Amino acid sequence: MSQTIPQNLVFFSLSLLAFLHPCCSSIIDREKHEPKIKGLFVFGSSLVDNGNNNFIKNTIAKVDYLPYGIDFPFGPSGRFTNGKNVIDLLGDKLGIPNYIPPFNDPSTSGRKIVYGVNYASGGSGILDDTGAFAGNVMSLNAQIRNFEAVTLPDLEVQLRSKSRVSLPQFLFVVGSGGNDYSLNYFMGMTSNNVSLEEFTANLTTTLTHQVKRLYNLGARKFALMAINPNGCSPMAKARFSTRDHCVQVLNRAVHLFNVRLKTLLVSIRTQMPGSVLVFVNSYKVMRDIIRDPASKGFSNARSSCCEVATIKEGGTGILCKRGGSICTNRSAHVFFDGLHPTEAVNLVIATKAYASNFKAEVYPMNLKQLSEI
Ligand SMILES: *[C@@H]1O[C@H](CO)[C@@H](O)[C@H](O)[C@H]1NC(C)=O
Ligand SMILES: *[C@@H]1O[C@H](CO)[C@@H](O)[C@H](O)[C@H]1NC(C)=O
Ligand SMILES: *[C@@H]1O[C@H](CO)[C@@H](O)[C@H](O)[C@H]1NC(C)=O
Repeated sequence: MSQTIPQNLVFFSLSLLAFLHPCCSSIIDREKHEPKIKGLFVFGSSLVDNGNNNFIKNTIAKVDYLPYGIDFPFGPSGRFTNGKNVIDLLGDKLGIPNYIPPFNDPSTSGRKIVYGVNYASGGSGILDDTGAFAGNVMSLNAQIRNFEAVTLPDLEVQLRSKSRVSLPQFLFVVGSGGNDYSLNYFMGMTSNNVSLEEFTANLTTTLTHQVKRLYNLGARKFALMAINPNGCSPMAKARFSTRDHCVQVLNRAVHLFNVRLKTLLVSIRTQMPGSVLVFVNSYKVMRDIIRDPASKGFSNARSSCCEVATIKEGGTGILCKRGGSICTNRSAHVFFDGLHPTEAVNLVIATKAYASNFKAEVYPMNLKQLSEI
């Protein structure tokens, strides 16, 4: 037989104690000003992967070697850039005290998950078959399944509350879709003969279902990342053999996706009462940098900073050569490798996502405003 003490009474007494005792009154202050976003759950591809693929055996989309991480405090970590990725930098802005741990790390459980978990997997896409090119990566559906089956039960234990109560305090970031074009549609991997319109509609419909699934599990605050202007990446220009600044056919495709996604967010909001969905237009932010790099503090928007392992040499045409040479001034470059932006660009995107008042950059509000709701 257990005796139960009314919870509110315990809370009241503890608060009173803390208030009266000089040592602990600061605890109460901190609680009052505690940021409303407790942590982040992150889903998507390499742009937001922070080490999941390091734990996957059969994948070519793995960056556990230098020069990746050359500017990261812990060196190469599986992040697809020289330093912090956009999630790390967003976490800094939102005042999240720790780096969000990667789901695939076996030590990611217990107290380690109280600020959220990152499920993102380089090479993956919105569609399950997109990752086939990169090997055994985790598709967006698999990421959400892992969140539901593995993390949620553990989180309820750690936070001692039902996920319906705790999850609204977390921000759910989804950044996927680029690979569905670059590694699927434009590589002729789509088995059925579908038009770009149909393919894009399939992507946005599928993504909408995935977001609703997270909502049904208790998520309320969302940040959806646009697909970057991948047509301007060194990889795209090499593959499409163009000397133009950007591969327009690829940019037009992802731009179409971005426009559709933004429209969909407005229409699904009514089906998801109590939710807030923010669209982070990283496409526009990067496109603006690439159009006029000098005005944004960059000097090279065309070539990758690191030496890329070409397809001819048995590489991917995207990733840096293991131990290969790099540019001296990383913050002057837009692209670190054949596809992924440098930390300097990630910082511009994160800063705009957090604080821009320009609706074309972050819509319908910025993440600072979202965090105050
Ligand atoms: C794909 O569709 C286009 C136009 O709808 C058609 O011209 C073409 O023959 C189709 N290709 C295949 C392999 O079915
Ligand atoms: C979307 O694409 C997937 C994989 O190519 C396919 O299995 C599915 O039927 C498509 N869904 C729609 C709604 O077109
Ligand atoms: C590196 O590039 C940045 C941005 O273009 C510039 O502000 C900085 O002065 C450069 N640093 C060096 C050491 O050249």
